[in-house]
Amino acid sequence: MERTDYNGNLRLKDAGREVVLDGWVANRRNLGSLLFIDLRDSTGIIQLVTDHPDDFPDVRNEYVIEARGHVRAKEVPNKNLPTGEVEVVLTSIKVFNKAETTPFIIADKTDALEDTRLTYRYLDIRRPYILNKLKTRALIVRDWHEYFDSHDFLEVETPALNRSSPEGAKEYLVPSRVHHGCFYALPQSPQLWKQLLMIGGVERYYQVARCFRDEDLRADRQPEFTQLDEEVSFMDMDQILALNEGFLAKIFKDTVGVDIQLPLRRIPFWEAMDVYGSDKPDTRYGLTLKDMMPLVGDIEFKGFEGASYIKGIVIPGQGKETSRKVLDNLQLEARKFNLKGVLSLKVEEGKLAGSFGKFVDEAHAAKIIEALGLQEDDLVLFASSSDRRNIDFGMGALRTLYAKKLGLIKPNTYDLLWVVDFPMFDPVEGEPGKYVAEHHPFTRPRDEDLPLLDTKPEEVLAYAYDIVINGYEAGGGTMRIYDHDTQWKIFKLLGLSDEQVAAKFGWFIDAFKYGAPPHGGIAFGLDRLTMILTGTDNIRDVEAFPKNLQAVDPMSHAPAFVDDSQLDILDIKIDEEK
Ligand code: AMO
Repeated sequence: MERTDYNGNLRLKDAGREVVLDGWVANRRNLGSLLFIDLRDSTGIIQLVTDHPDDFPDVRNEYVIEARGHVRAKEVPNKNLPTGEVEVVLTSIKVFNKAETTPFIIADKTDALEDTRLTYRYLDIRRPYILNKLKTRALIVRDWHEYFDSHDFLEVETPALNRSSPEGAKEYLVPSRVHHGCFYALPQSPQLWKQLLMIGGVERYYQVARCFRDEDLRADRQPEFTQLDEEVSFMDMDQILALNEGFLAKIFKDTVGVDIQLPLRRIPFWEAMDVYGSDKPDTRYGLTLKDMMPLVGDIEFKGFEGASYIKGIVIPGQGKETSRKVLDNLQLEARKFNLKGVLSLKVEEGKLAGSFGKFVDEAHAAKIIEALGLQEDDLVLFASSSDRRNIDFGMGALRTLYAKKLGLIKPNTYDLLWVVDFPMFDPVEGEPGKYVAEHHPFTRPRDEDLPLLDTKPEEVLAYAYDIVINGYEAGGGTMRIYDHDTQWKIFKLLGLSDEQVAAKFGWFIDAFKYGAPPHGGIAFGLDRLTMILTGTDNIRDVEAFPKNLQAVDPMSHAPAFVDDSQLDILDIKIDEEK
């Protein structure tokens, strides 16, 4: 191959040079006496030109060619292309391969359905829109290596075939051929391994780790995703956060050229919930949650029966805009957010109207208007619940919905913060005394809260921290329990019997008997970081070969049935009735 340059690099300074270029025909315009070809490679597009079209082979879109010619300045530069000041006057074209008409046009703007794009993902990747995202992803990983390598971290790979250890989501299981009836589980994260590496004396571990979770997919979730995973011994939480802030500053600078202000803000979990209705708050806009209990709690209203919380948001100037029909539709949204319903108040000529207006007397109205600082035409949406998380999450979802609706979120702005002081446990709804771990069972409760483990576990806060960027949980970590007895106790509080702890986690907790150092760590979601830094809200845009929302790869058709002979080897029978 004789390639001399990448197409995207050619500039005015190259005028006069002979070049050999490779790539795909992105576009071809034959004006009879003039032929223009846009040639695309992984770096960009350059225009080729000749006034002897008949001297060259006939090429069509997506043909793979090598072109020779000399660079010259264009008379009229194309401002839309980085290479737009020059063009290459053709002397020869060699065709490596022809191409059939593609199922969709290979251009950034496309109206092709996502499943069509995923079916021909290799064509989709030719679109700079996708390729550039993969480049940013690679840049983040490069920074990750550079940064943590310079801080003496050791890259260690951990197993993909693991013992099942339910961590929250469902696991992907892999049957063992050799051990009848036994299964490996693919890792949801390398959590246990990285802690064992600390006990093994590695001190500073990091890894680009593939993780697998069989959970319902969303715009920011894939069944298979990548964590930038790390663990460190002999550092306290402040030190770990500061270290990781340095990494975040580096990737923001290198990918989007933004200097982030350090140290980052920290918001305690319950404050985030109270004010923003989310444990991953986007604080780029207001619409904060207001406690309406002192304002309307004493009003006789059936819907408030049994409610301990009434919270609302004030949406300025949206009273008239928001018709009864819109409010009716909002009830459906509210149910999606697990709220029973949404009530409304509107300021109309200084009085309170809306669905709740008729329940409000003058004295209450005055109090509400004053306390919420309401102006003419403001809209108040509110709901009640007996459960704190339910009301906060529900109203938080409504807050986000309205911020999007009203265009309150400025593009290309970044809002980074840590959410800290998470509760250790999340009570299981409807099952008093039952808990799941808010992060995971290896999280260390705050020292001052240890006595509460025996009395009020739901009030125990933990050394846990999530990095939240633009309302996304971009990463999360915790300081770990490092003594055997506390770890055992946490498992018991999570409802495991002694036998279950011994059977499921005995192999792991035993390691704590032989000298475990204080340690902690974090895992960033590489996919989510890439989403944020490339400005997409679709996780499928930042993975080369993602699954669709049904967890299917429309190109290879995974998952798929396998031959009976394969099942026989594994001694697995499929119930055809199901
Ligand atoms: P956690 O479960 O919070 O923590 O995961 C860490 C980060 O991984 C990303 N993430 C996902 N990204 C895409 N698709 C998914 N299905 C998905 N699930 C999680 C998120 C999340 O913040 N072992 C702990 C970390 C630790 O304590 O060190 C863990 O896995 O960005």
